[in-house]
Amino acid sequence: MGGIGSHVNAVLLFALAALLIFQVHADYMMYLTNNLGPGKDLTAHCRNDNIRAGIRDLGTHVLKFSQNFTWVSPLDPWQNTTYWCDMTKPNSARATFNIYNETRDFVLCTGAECYWRVDEDAIYIHDNLHKHWVLQYHWPQ
Ligand SMILES: *[C@@H]1O[C@H](CO)[C@@H](O)[C@H](O)[C@H]1NC(C)=O
Ligand SMILES: *[C@@H]1O[C@H](CO)[C@@H](O)[C@H](O)[C@H]1NC(C)=O
Ligand SMILES: *[C@@H]1O[C@H](CO)[C@@H](O)[C@H](O)[C@H]1NC(C)=O
Repeated sequence: MGGIGSHVNAVLLFALAALLIFQVHADYMMYLTNNLGPGKDLTAHCRNDNIRAGIRDLGTHVLKFSQNFTWVSPLDPWQNTTYWCDMTKPNSARATFNIYNETRDFVLCTGAECYWRVDEDAIYIHDNLHKHWVLQYHWPQ
């Protein structure tokens, strides 16, 4: 052994290690937008559940129409991170949604950014790769 072959192997290993380290430490930007309509406030209380870091409460936020709630998520691909949001509309309709489940939603957040849009009928998550909104949950009737 030795020579070119092991050199190539070492470079590949290094590249793989760098990729893994980058992924583990990648910070994700999360954007939740109130798209309920003019004059309609959205109240959102989100919390993060991560096997390693535990539960992190992001607090209660009242968003005016077209306002965003933005936060940074230190995602780990193997920690099954989830975000749960308790959301309330002006007519008091209220529900708790699992807006992010790493295993399920990871592929939609390419570029390390996740976007949600809260409409009157449903919550949508953006598929960054295919550039379209995907229905995530209907508001309960
Ligand atoms: C909110 O985020 C959206 C992307 O989802 C962006 O287009 C818009 O400009 C942002 N609005 C504000 C007020 O930051
Ligand atoms: C995350 O979930 C997958 C299946 O959804 C499971 O195989 C894996 O063990 C879980 N990871 C952790 C760290 O619990
Ligand atoms: C996340 O999604 C995976 C795959 O759909 C599922 O197995 C897992 O139970 C979900 N986790 C939570 C906390 O709902």
